[in-house]
Amino acid sequence: MNELIEKAKEFHTLTKGELVSLLADDGINEELFQAADSVRREFVGDEVHLRALIEFSNYCRCNCLYCGIRAENNLVERYRLEKSEILELAQHAAASRYKTIVLQSGEDFSFKADYLAEIVAGIKKLDVAVTLSIGERSYEEYKILKKSGADRFLLRIETTDKGLYEKMHPKASLENRKRCLYDLKELGFETGTGCLVGLPGQTLESLADDILFFKELDADMIGIGPLIPHPHTPLRDSECGNLTLALKVMALTRLLLPDINIPATTAMETLNSEGRIMALQAGANVVMPNVTAEDVRGKYEIYPNKAAVNYAELSKKLAQIERTISHKKGFRNHFVSPLTLAPSPVGRGKRFYLARHLRRNMTPQEIKFWNLVRNSKFMNIKFKRQYKIGKYIVDFVAIQKMLIIELDGGGHNTPEQQKYDEERTKYLMSRGFKILRFWNNDIDNNIDGVFETISLALRERN
Ligand code: 5AD
Repeated sequence: MNELIEKAKEFHTLTKGELVSLLADDGINEELFQAADSVRREFVGDEVHLRALIEFSNYCRCNCLYCGIRAENNLVERYRLEKSEILELAQHAAASRYKTIVLQSGEDFSFKADYLAEIVAGIKKLDVAVTLSIGERSYEEYKILKKSGADRFLLRIETTDKGLYEKMHPKASLENRKRCLYDLKELGFETGTGCLVGLPGQTLESLADDILFFKELDADMIGIGPLIPHPHTPLRDSECGNLTLALKVMALTRLLLPDINIPATTAMETLNSEGRIMALQAGANVVMPNVTAEDVRGKYEIYPNKAAVNYAELSKKLAQIERTISHKKGFRNHFVSPLTLAPSPVGRGKRFYLARHLRRNMTPQEIKFWNLVRNSKFMNIKFKRQYKIGKYIVDFVAIQKMLIIELDGGGHNTPEQQKYDEERTKYLMSRGFKILRFWNNDIDNNIDGVFETISLALRERN
């Protein structure tokens, strides 16, 4: 097997240079797709989660150069669904055994957060997960929506190339896009993002950066689609995105983020009538059928000839590739693979899940600390949290400085625990790390002192 693919399959990391070389080499495509398919099976299983998509408004304040419902396209007939219409579509979807309802719209600020919150709360009574895909809002608005019961949020980064981002999105900034995504993560949404493949001027380097950004954000879902030029947009004469390249970006994303949810996107199916099945065999595990009423569906034309999902046809095709339709909500990581639990020489799988579990349940002190260091806020140093080193998981680490920060609750230690801690410390030091420990009490009452100590240690380790 190709060495890089093997490495990614085993360790779920690749450098930017390695990603670029795999994206550039079309001789490895089959191997890459097979590796992504096997990682998908190992980490998220053979079930395919269906998410029912409701496109409730095509009003949009944005002018994204590629998008058919951009504000300046006045050939679009605009519509907004009423709350009662949205609830009715959701009820119908829930009755058809969908376990997730996705509410998507343009950036339509006439839907205030409070009003959307009422809609979400109404849908939540149906015992379904709710995903929002409504664009950029403030932290406060996201908070209201989270409180109302929304579980997930989709907001593609589209591209991490700042120059390209700003060219494609007049009056918008990459920084605010990222701010939204980090806010959503912090608020506890399962956060989905993703990119467009085939934007004019996009490079393989920038696609590699996109994949690394997904990993840095620790995205819970990633949707990737090829660009499909819309005749009533400034990109009308651009070339179509390349389906194979989009599948490769998706497959590499699966290798690097093995346990996330990845949809086989409609744009893939639009370019090739087998696109969805190809994606499901190259890392994808989600399909998002559109359940918007027929009379308005055509008006939500972000690109032309959007493919529809035919349920009967889909389940037949899934059966042919030995996959089944899930009737569960399909949150990230709810599947525990028997392969992962099998004892392995390094126990990679279990630690992987443990790290994930710990990331989910931060103490108030960890949250406070994390908010002060995340996004390289402190001394411009990148910290990671709940990070695996060898067989151990550390609370926080600045890899570039080989500095570990541990927060202790101060519970009493048994002799066995002490012995375990000693071994752990010995191991981490042997790998060249310095370890700083703080009591939760220090974080609560002497945060300035804590950061003084950390900044001294960081300077020492130059
Ligand atoms: N072609 C393909 N995908 C598009 N999107 C918007 N316009 C197009 C297009 N012309 C994608 C964007 C957006 C998602 C909802 O649809 O990535 O995030």
